[in-house]
Amino acid sequence: METFLTLGYEQETDVPPEFVDDVRTPEAYVRHFLREHTEEGDVVLDPFAGFGTTLLVAEELGRVPYGVEYEEDRVAVVRDRVSADHAEHVIRGSALELDSHDLPPFDCCLTSPPYMVEGMETNPFRNYATDSESDYDRYLADVREVFAQLRQLASSDVTLLVDVSNVKFEGDVTTLAWDVADAVSESFHFRGEVVVGWKGEDQDDRDGGTYVYGYDHSYCLVFGAGEEESETK
Ligand SMILES: C[S@@+](CC[C@H](N)C(=O)[O-])C[C@H]1O[C@@H](n2cnc3c(N)ncnc32)[C@H](O)[C@@H]1O
Repeated sequence: METFLTLGYEQETDVPPEFVDDVRTPEAYVRHFLREHTEEGDVVLDPFAGFGTTLLVAEELGRVPYGVEYEEDRVAVVRDRVSADHAEHVIRGSALELDSHDLPPFDCCLTSPPYMVEGMETNPFRNYATDSESDYDRYLADVREVFAQLRQLASSDVTLLVDVSNVKFEGDVTTLAWDVADAVSESFHFRGEVVVGWKGEDQDDRDGGTYVYGYDHSYCLVFGAGEEESETK
């Protein structure tokens, strides 16, 4: 497994104007990792579908996309963006209730969970609604719960790919990537991390000339089904 690469941070596709400033995973990232870890016809799931980048790139590569997204308006955007055949694969709901949705076993999950920094009080799993509450420990417990449910749905040779970075905020660093890796490792076998360096003109417009979370790189955390899986993966 290659452990360092550099990708452009640009968005290749448009979303409606009211969403252009919302964070999306760059298509280049999704394309790179889906090409490496999936085959044509594989079922690819994103339980935090956002604007559907994983689903769109999965379609482009001939994979079968499924997504769950909490925000109704984002669900509508994703249903519009995927082909008509797959519109029903975009489910409005919570990743914390995956077992209540009609999802098939999946071969690959590529996702980026909502982020949290220590000290934040609103709940990322309700998309930071002003009337929501959480704290960092509760957040990590929710991350553990989502991935425990995903483990139940996963095929036996699943690959799980998590797009996450640490976060610098007001002079402090939340080691989000390390903490998410620990939480997910309770249900999946951690194969290692790939460091993704971001390049692109946008970088100059961001805090400190870096990626939106205070760094010029993030990670793809790579997991498999269990410790018995092949060492060669
Ligand atoms: C980091 S964004 C994902 C962006 C996505 N990768 C893209 O490129 O558009 C995280 C998404 O998780 C969604 N979300 C938050 N809580 C959720 C929950 N409980 N269940 C499902 N989705 C949730 C947010 O609304 C947001 O769209």
